[in-house]
Amino acid sequence: MKKSTYWRIAPFVIVGLALLFRIFINPADPPNAALFIGRFHSMIVHFPIGLLLLAVLLEVLARAFRIERFSSTIKLLLLAGAAGAVAAVLAGLYLEMAPGYEADTLFWHKRLGIGIAILSFIAYGVRLLDGQPGTTVYRVYAGVLVVLCSFLMVGGHLGSVLTHGSGYMTRYMPQTFRSMLGLGSPAQGWAVRMATAEDAEVYSDLVQPILDSRCISCHNAGQQRGQLALDTPEGIEKGGGDGPVLVAGRSSESEIMRRILLPPDHEGHMPPEGKDPLTVAEAALIRWWIDEGASFDQKVAEVTPSPLVEQIFAGLELSERETGIFALEIAAADSTAIQAARAAGMAVTSLGENEPFLQVRCASASDCLNVEQVAALGLIASQVAWLNLGRTEVADSALAVLATLPHLTRLHLESTSVSDEALVHLSELQYLEYLNLYDTSVSDSSVQYLSMLPSLQSLFLWETDVTSEGVESLQRALPDAEIVLGWTLPSVDEDTTSAP
Ligand code: HEC
Repeated sequence: MKKSTYWRIAPFVIVGLALLFRIFINPADPPNAALFIGRFHSMIVHFPIGLLLLAVLLEVLARAFRIERFSSTIKLLLLAGAAGAVAAVLAGLYLEMAPGYEADTLFWHKRLGIGIAILSFIAYGVRLLDGQPGTTVYRVYAGVLVVLCSFLMVGGHLGSVLTHGSGYMTRYMPQTFRSMLGLGSPAQGWAVRMATAEDAEVYSDLVQPILDSRCISCHNAGQQRGQLALDTPEGIEKGGGDGPVLVAGRSSESEIMRRILLPPDHEGHMPPEGKDPLTVAEAALIRWWIDEGASFDQKVAEVTPSPLVEQIFAGLELSERETGIFALEIAAADSTAIQAARAAGMAVTSLGENEPFLQVRCASASDCLNVEQVAALGLIASQVAWLNLGRTEVADSALAVLATLPHLTRLHLESTSVSDEALVHLSELQYLEYLNLYDTSVSDSSVQYLSMLPSLQSLFLWETDVTSEGVESLQRALPDAEIVLGWTLPSVDEDTTSAP
């Protein structure tokens, strides 16, 4: 064979091999090499678009001004554009295996892309015939170019929707133009609905709209990414490929919540990388719904809003009115119960005049939260608001009692042997505002529990094993919390308790 024959065969061999390899890959579990090839799609794809549009532009100029000498350039551009389109399609076939693309958009983008590759070869072939105006060849050629151009426009646009999401072009558009396109303001739909509906339902008016706007593009009956459909109660209850995604009453054990609270750059985060994470309010509403039993027909009026949810409803920032536990009606503790706690070796004092709430600490650092003390705490569980276990030898196992103190707002655990696991006992503490973990060995594993604390305002993580990524993801989950990493002495300054 002549050398030039090899050169003619080479492209076909390369394309054939690329297609062949693609067939043997399991799209559900693509190897990294496949995804690596796929990523070239976004780079390659601009060449055929540019070349083909340039060919069309030159063609229009050539016809308008009767410039004959453009002819060979146009043929070259069409051929190069067609080759580029094939390369882009090939890379695209690998890229489509990466998770997270919306199926409907991908469906059309892929077909238009393949269509462009085929059409550009046809355009090249017909162009070789040099049809003159008035002939059929000429008309066919013109028609092919028109279709090719519209495929390029629509296919390219769908490509940008796939990479950037559908609101990308309109997100910062002035509202006047948005209205002309029939778009509302980019605010969340649920906020608007709440203001108008008296008898709103938790699921259909608050939760489903969030899932609709953030999740169901990938999790619906037709397209069940992770084998999960979130568009109907049945789908949500059925769960995904890895089992149930919801544990009614327990948001901290629900896969949905875990996915939402993962750091946004974690590969399991939902919605996946590239999409905006849920806002604090959206996450809080879903969490509240799950904690209140994940019912599909409860009315908002029938459920107690958590403090954060109340704030969301009111659309207010923290105001001057009584908030947190001070807005609750709690009876004062029995004086014999307080006596019992003191007898067991704890310092107990009132948090203020006419306040039922108590601050408590262990009198002895070496004997903190023993069996008697835990039992005594049980008698004043509703009233304990501040608990100081800092610098004691409190055992991890005793910390289970924390989960039984519903109104805890301040908790000192600094310089203790508290472990990540023990922090699970905190995850139900919806009033906890202050948590000191200075000089403990808690690590990033505790971020999942800490992120669940809706009222947290100050969190001391100085001298812990929490990494800066951990802090970052916590800060995103708790944007209003101040996470202290070093400058302050975690002293017991506010602790005015004294031994009896
Ligand atoms: C852009 C597409 C996309 C969006 C949007 C999206 N997901 Fe996913 N989701 C996926 C893919 C792909 C998987 C499978 C891969 C994995 O498990 O990480 C998945 C898996 C899951 C799973 C695990 C299912 C199982 O059993 O394996 C849960 C739970 C989940 N998503 C919840 C959500 C929630 C809640 C939202 C909205 C806040 C959401 N997803 C938005 C693409 C998406």
